[in-house]
Amino acid sequence: MEVGIIGIGIMGRAMARSLLRAGFRVWVWNRTRSKAEALAQEGAILAGTPGELVKNVKIVGVVLANHEVTREVFYKKEGVLEGIHEGVYIVDHGTNSPEWAFEAYEEVENRGGKYIDIPVLGSKIQAENGELVILAGGNEEELKGLKNYLSVLGKRIIYTGKRGNGCLLKLNLNLMIAIMNLAVAEGIALSEAFGLKPEFFMHALLHSAMASPYIKIKGEKILKQDFSKQFALSLMTKDLRLIMQEVIKHRFPSFLGSICYDVYQQAEVKGLGEVDLSAVKKMYQEK
Ligand SMILES: NC(=O)c1ccc[n+]([C@@H]2O[C@H](COP(=O)([O-])OP(=O)(O)OC[C@H]3O[C@@H](n4cnc5c(N)ncnc54)[C@H](OP(=O)(O)O)[C@@H]3O)[C@@H](O)[C@H]2O)c1
Repeated sequence: MEVGIIGIGIMGRAMARSLLRAGFRVWVWNRTRSKAEALAQEGAILAGTPGELVKNVKIVGVVLANHEVTREVFYKKEGVLEGIHEGVYIVDHGTNSPEWAFEAYEEVENRGGKYIDIPVLGSKIQAENGELVILAGGNEEELKGLKNYLSVLGKRIIYTGKRGNGCLLKLNLNLMIAIMNLAVAEGIALSEAFGLKPEFFMHALLHSAMASPYIKIKGEKILKQDFSKQFALSLMTKDLRLIMQEVIKHRFPSFLGSICYDVYQQAEVKGLGEVDLSAVKKMYQEK
């Protein structure tokens, strides 16, 4: 089957590779074409425009930085909307606002295609291993045409029933990620302030009931001071902005959301936006 991925960043590249490995014919498009060229060597077909990609496939995964960029790629000349044909699925894997999901749904469905918000939980490593958790803004019956495609990307699909719910669930979970990442960073920084080896902290943590793969990955990155990007800190501040918009809309008192929003925002102001979000630890080193 012919499928496509629009946006060959950290997540899009890993997803395209999984689909190639599974035997799909994979079209790819990226604004910076050179970043998609390695995939062509692995068998992907490079599209000249997003519209050309959409015209040639049955399922399109969109994995762009944020909803502003996604909107631009949809509406631009020879963009996604120009390529919509009867029955094509446009599957938005970005972490976006529910408002965007409703707008995109209208635009795609009016042209005969099907739009679904299906963000993913997991980062670079899970995407590379086909182990993402898939958060689908629809029900199993209406999304059955996507089953083979989604099962390559992840082992667990959660059907949330309706448009926009995939986005809301993803934002809810990303607040947990922001909190856990900050908690590990603060724990390690506090060890240092106590004059304790932070390795003791991580060793005890990873052998306790609090242990989790996420804490392990981020804790080890902090200990090694390896802030190479798995999930850019700037993308987390984008998600926290979206979370806080929803929190305000629902008049929900998100104590930890407010703190995380301030800390990550400040970290971005200090120039940490384009490294991994584990670099939030550096906020504790500034005197
Ligand atoms: N990384 C993670 O752990 C993770 C996990 C789950 C969900 N997500 C979400 O998945 C999405 C992608 O994340 P990522 O980590 O893969 O991001 P990334 O590596 O920064 O990739 C961003 C993609 O957006 C494209 N882009 C940026 N500005 C653009 C513009 N003005 N016009 C066209 N394309 C543009 C980039 O193209 P260029 O190459 O040309 O810059 C690139 O393909 C985000 O919504 C993110 O929140 C990320």
